[in-house]
Amino acid sequence: MSQKPLIIALSKGRILKDTLPLLKEAGIEMTEDPSASRKLIFDTTREDVKIIVIRATDVPPYVQHGGADIGVAGKDVLMEHGADGLFEPLDLEIARCKLMVAALKDAPPVSGRLRVATKFVNVAKSYFAQQGRQAEVIKLYGAMELAPLVGLADRIVDIVDTGNTLRANGLEPTEMIATISSRVVVNRASMKTRHGQIQEILDQVAKAVAARR
Ligand code: ATP
Ligand code: PRP
Ligand code: MG
Repeated sequence: MSQKPLIIALSKGRILKDTLPLLKEAGIEMTEDPSASRKLIFDTTREDVKIIVIRATDVPPYVQHGGADIGVAGKDVLMEHGADGLFEPLDLEIARCKLMVAALKDAPPVSGRLRVATKFVNVAKSYFAQQGRQAEVIKLYGAMELAPLVGLADRIVDIVDTGNTLRANGLEPTEMIATISSRVVVNRASMKTRHGQIQEILDQVAKAVAARR
């Protein structure tokens, strides 16, 4: 093989689990179980393709700066990161959820500055700014649902699927910001220099997505 392998970035957890069956349709299968290994880069059944396993929030910067040619990331993570240097050609229709504002059940409206805890700082700031509402955004890395319970924040901005996590913590959704699913992103330069190889994979994966509808 003359050219360097094409690198696909996936994140551990639901994206890895839900993307692998789609990649299989393009003849790409991991030759080793990533959960049973400390390795971070894996061979596949295609000699010209390797898979790297990284944090979900690291997928956009890896693809943007050419550490990976292709990646899969939630629309939430892409909205937060911004679209610079990324081409977003395909919705995989997996890991579906909603990005919502939530509050303690029956919380009174807040007059003045709203304190909002979230890991989606940029999304939250622009959402409240668009609405003309003043918000102080507090950056957290997880367990956002806890923040209103201990008086850290009046609202959270977080992912909601079944609503179980909100309910279990006495919270309720108040506003929807966006519907979310995972998207394929491609490095803009790779899309030009390796167009044939990438387009072939995208076409096969798109077919697998369509077949599931
Ligand atoms: P990390 O564990 O590294 O902090 P993470 O929690 O964002 O990352 P995942 O939980 O695997 O990682 O989420 C990956 C993507 O899946 C999210 O960006 C979002 O788009 C979607 N997602 C998150 N939670 C849910 C859920 N409960 N149901 C469906 N999709 C979800
Ligand atoms: C995600 C998200 C919410 C929860 C929402 O957490 O951060 O907390 O799912 O889903 P629900 O509405 O079905 O309860 P995840 O399960 O990914 O755990 P994490 O905190 O490890 O990210
Ligand atoms: Mg999660």
